[in-house]
Amino acid sequence: MSDWTKSSWREKPRIQMPDYPDMAALNAVEAQLARFPVLVFAGETQRLKNHLGAAARGEAFLLQGGDCAESFEQFSSDMIRDTFKVMLQMAIVLTHGAKVPVIKLGRMAGQFAKPRSAPTEVIDGVELPSYRGDIINELDFTPAARIPDPEKMLRAYTQAAATLNLIRAFSTGGYADVHQVHGWTLGFTDNEKAEKYREIANRISDTLDFMAAAGVTSDTAHTLQSVEFYTSHESLLLEYEEALCRKDSLSQQWLAGSGHMIWIGDRTRQPDGAHVEFARGVMNPIGLKCGPSMTTDDLKKLMATLNPENEAGRLTLIARFGAGSVGEHLPRLIKAVKEEGANVLWTCDAMHGNTIKSSTGYKTRPFDSVLREVREFFGVHSAEGTVPGGVHFEMTGQDVTECTGGLRDVSDESLSDRYHTACDPRLNASQSLELAFLVAEELSNRRNTVAEKAAG
Ligand code: PEP
Ligand code: CO
Repeated sequence: MSDWTKSSWREKPRIQMPDYPDMAALNAVEAQLARFPVLVFAGETQRLKNHLGAAARGEAFLLQGGDCAESFEQFSSDMIRDTFKVMLQMAIVLTHGAKVPVIKLGRMAGQFAKPRSAPTEVIDGVELPSYRGDIINELDFTPAARIPDPEKMLRAYTQAAATLNLIRAFSTGGYADVHQVHGWTLGFTDNEKAEKYREIANRISDTLDFMAAAGVTSDTAHTLQSVEFYTSHESLLLEYEEALCRKDSLSQQWLAGSGHMIWIGDRTRQPDGAHVEFARGVMNPIGLKCGPSMTTDDLKKLMATLNPENEAGRLTLIARFGAGSVGEHLPRLIKAVKEEGANVLWTCDAMHGNTIKSSTGYKTRPFDSVLREVREFFGVHSAEGTVPGGVHFEMTGQDVTECTGGLRDVSDESLSDRYHTACDPRLNASQSLELAFLVAEELSNRRNTVAEKAAG
């Protein structure tokens, strides 16, 4: 890749990035970040890539989840712990349904910068620049708060480093033990409304009991007491990404040191734009959001640019069409992938096509639409004979009221109770786990259908 450098994106058209008023301050921050340690290591990203390659073949399943936007104000160890915990619970339930390992990938430790649908926001006749995430400016609706401040990159880096440090400790320090995680899930299914999920939970208990009786316990099998957990975020603020981009001394490849996987958003995926330019040169697994406006021509160009060697696990296509629209768009994109013989992992972001305004004025997402989009995604892949390799959710371990529906039936009226997101509405812990049970059911039905077909 002779014509790529970590700064070559600067020669390309850029959108959705701030114009910093103080260039000297920006340069000073970039220089400082460039001296800081990377947050992730080349070997880890390669390992994730291998897992994603397996998911593309149907030998693993990807669970990607976390905040729409991480926040400075809401940062706390409890918040990280709770999201980590519910993702592990979901992963066990999904593993049971899919009967393959589940790859755990947080939208965490770097998910700060946000693309916006409009450059400015008007409230009561006052127009100000839009909020673009805590790494860029502030949510407060005042002129000062909305000025992009490069110093925020340093705070984001520090928060990302602390988050990752805690995640690494939780992953291996006993907290992630499968028995403990499953114990929490049993607590959830004890609730009378969760009765329909109890049978699956009991079957998982039986399996663990059987394994223990056969001598497979956390003491004898290290994999039962620790997990691999990876991080991801949208690679939007390219000054930050460039400053953390380093050459790996072993492989001599360039690493985006800000997170294990980086993805390109649905608004910044222009084949000749700055965001694609940056991503094409780094060794990390790359995600690419595919919304309704993705053309087959663009997809073909993007696959060639982002994965010229057709490497397994390099490219994850994150479909986000909205419930009711998957059948219209996914088949044509799958066809483009087939025509190119491209190696990709298909996963379903069942959030971003399902945002609506509630009757009470809040931006929300109905639980049933999220589930419906996942089901449509599985349905199309069944029909096409391709692999639905994962799911992507905006979620939190906290008990928020941002998405409607689910067991505890969050209503339009109760959205105001605990609506804390700085950006898009997230599934709460109970809604996330419930969704995992329902997706696991789909996966298990799918396995049975595939097995029946194979049996002739
Ligand atoms: C997101 O994942 O938060 C996001 C902005 O998604 P998209 O680019 O698909 O709209
Ligand atoms: Co979002």
